[in-house]
Amino acid sequence: TEHFTFDPGFTSTGSCESKITYIDGDEGILLHRGYRIEDLAEHSDFMDVSYLLLHGELPSRSEKLAFEKAITYHTMVHEQLNYFFRGFRRDAHPMAIMVGVVGALSSFYHDSTDIGDPHQRMIASHRLIAKMPTIAAWAYKYSVGQPFMYPRNSLNYAENFLQMTFGVPAEEYKVSPTLARAMDRIFILHADHEQNASTSTVRIAGSSGANPFACIAAGIASLWGPAHGGANEAVLLMLQEIGHKDRIHEFIKRAKDKDDPFRLMGFGHRVYKNYDPRAKVMQKSCHEVLSELGVDDPLLELAMELEKIALEDDYFVSKKLFPNVDFYSGIILKAMGFPTTMFTVLFALARTVGWVAQWKEMIEDPNQRISRPRQLYTGYAERPYKPIDKR
Ligand code: CMC
Repeated sequence: TEHFTFDPGFTSTGSCESKITYIDGDEGILLHRGYRIEDLAEHSDFMDVSYLLLHGELPSRSEKLAFEKAITYHTMVHEQLNYFFRGFRRDAHPMAIMVGVVGALSSFYHDSTDIGDPHQRMIASHRLIAKMPTIAAWAYKYSVGQPFMYPRNSLNYAENFLQMTFGVPAEEYKVSPTLARAMDRIFILHADHEQNASTSTVRIAGSSGANPFACIAAGIASLWGPAHGGANEAVLLMLQEIGHKDRIHEFIKRAKDKDDPFRLMGFGHRVYKNYDPRAKVMQKSCHEVLSELGVDDPLLELAMELEKIALEDDYFVSKKLFPNVDFYSGIILKAMGFPTTMFTVLFALARTVGWVAQWKEMIEDPNQRISRPRQLYTGYAERPYKPIDKR
């Protein structure tokens, strides 16, 4: 008597209307508000892209200035949060800290976040985008036992994040323009990707009218897994485990083996059945950054060889498995000095703008209803209660 479509993993279910991001998976095209990701990565900065995702248009000069001012106004976190960090073990995974700390923001903005008020929604959005670099950098600082660095609003978004991550109070931190540009581009490439697991999680959490800071914490939790944002960390660990070109075939063989759970990390995508356009930009950027920094990392050569061998292999060709955004990002982040455990944190930082834009779009959608998937029940039919001495 029940009528619904059974669709595990939501491979064929559209859950919402959205004007933010378009993906053509067969062609390998990604557009934000109609603009190609390649063009945004080349010509824009992360503030342009954030404004675009939130407001639908690229900002004029004055709109951009006002937006940057609104974001920098909120870069500090409540000093009390400083103590919250200190409750974590020093060796906690920074993603675990992110889930906790961002969730805790809801306790600071519990009463002021009236999601029915567009002004409050905008402030919550700005706060999240502004505070994420501070929180991410502090998660790192805590793990290495260095003092927390406060934001400096004379710096741009990426520079400020680098300053809070790699700077120390003892000396002036000189931001390298190469690093800052590379960081900004990585943020752009991760800004949004329509209804992936973490974004859908944010929308589902938010569909009940929940506090937006708590919803973003839910998104961070979902992103953490190796099938999603955790893949960038997993790719680097995989490359390190392979270690040498001679061992690539062994790992390719394992990836193809149905009885072996091993998968080639950074390969395959639910929507892209072609080269992920973000991976192309990332690969180019990887070469540029490594050569500008004078880093010669054998892992880059190993990654390119692995890609070449996989793309010529029948298994990967027939299943249309191509490198995704996570395949090359880890090598750049490693060259920039980030430990592997921070990779997914950077993804979360950048994706926050996408989550916030999608959350806002959902709340403002007149057709919005609480998300409530159905199920195919496969358990017992009704049966008589069994008293304890009969069990
Ligand atoms: N290595 C080996 N085989 C693979 C891989 C891989 N990386 N990805 C998919 N396959 C196979 C899979 O075994 C399945 O084979 P069969 O049809 O014979 O059972 C077929 O390809 C389809 O895979 P699926 O798991 O049904 O596809 P999905 O859409 O459910 O999963 C995915 C997509 C991204 C989770 C998956 O490709 C994967 O696990 N990739 C590795 C992890 C990764 O790189 N994730 C990052 C995704 S992109 C950015 C992000 O979201 O963070």
